[in-house]
Amino acid sequence: MSHEVPRYRFLPFAFERRPEPEMRARAKAFADELALRRSVRAFRSDPVPEDVLDHCVRAASSAPSGANRQPWTFVVVTDVEKKRAIRRAAEEEERRSYAERMNDEWLTALEPLGTNWEKPFLETAPALIVVFRHAYSCAPGPWSTSSADHERRFQNYYTQESVGIACGFLIAALHHAGLATLTHTPSPMGFLGRVLGRPENEKAFLLLPVGYPAEDCTVPDIARKPIELVRVRV
Ligand SMILES: Cc1cc2nc3c(=O)[nH]c(=O)nc-3n(C[C@H](O)[C@H](O)[C@H](O)COP(=O)(O)O)c2cc1C
Repeated sequence: MSHEVPRYRFLPFAFERRPEPEMRARAKAFADELALRRSVRAFRSDPVPEDVLDHCVRAASSAPSGANRQPWTFVVVTDVEKKRAIRRAAEEEERRSYAERMNDEWLTALEPLGTNWEKPFLETAPALIVVFRHAYSCAPGPWSTSSADHERRFQNYYTQESVGIACGFLIAALHHAGLATLTHTPSPMGFLGRVLGRPENEKAFLLLPVGYPAEDCTVPDIARKPIELVRVRV
């Protein structure tokens, strides 16, 4: 066992136990609010406040992570040229995916959503948040940055799960703040690290255009599975 890193200090946990009626009301209100979230693929170009996005990123970064490595970076892109470069590269990958990479079953699954290789929202949305997963770290604690010592590699744990949870927090926070977004995966996403100059240990995980829905924005009429189908009690 390595003794390179000291143990954390342990503090009393400030926890407020709520009366059951209050718990019930809060749980219902939260579920009702999240149920209104939809993936949006047409945005207005109005800018969004930077500090609002920062709070949402803070919410995302409060997620649990394997061994507390916090293996994520959230790149907030508002620069017009960068957004254009991302759109161009994403559409190139998506054009190939739709034409060659996706099999018939996949294309059939996407058919009802009416999506295709064109991604104009990558330019019209005022902000793109690109989430990167740290496949490994360059520091023994969670504080690895792009300027850190890249000679040493420190293992991270459950990075897919950790970053997935952080993205869930981010999507919920954006919705709660009054913004719309899309969970976008223009795969393969290696171009995002190159366009945004991220270090080798950071792998693009998700691309979230963020903004306000276009005035004529429509969303597919889908239904969520009822709780009886998704919850099992034993
Ligand atoms: C991991 C993941 C990847 C997704 N990738 C795309 C994508 O590349 N393009 C897209 O238009 N939608 C994408 N979606 C959005 C889904 O199509 C959408 O969440 C689903 O149809 C349900 O609709 P809702 O988000 O409005 O509830 C993705 C969703 C997830 C969770």
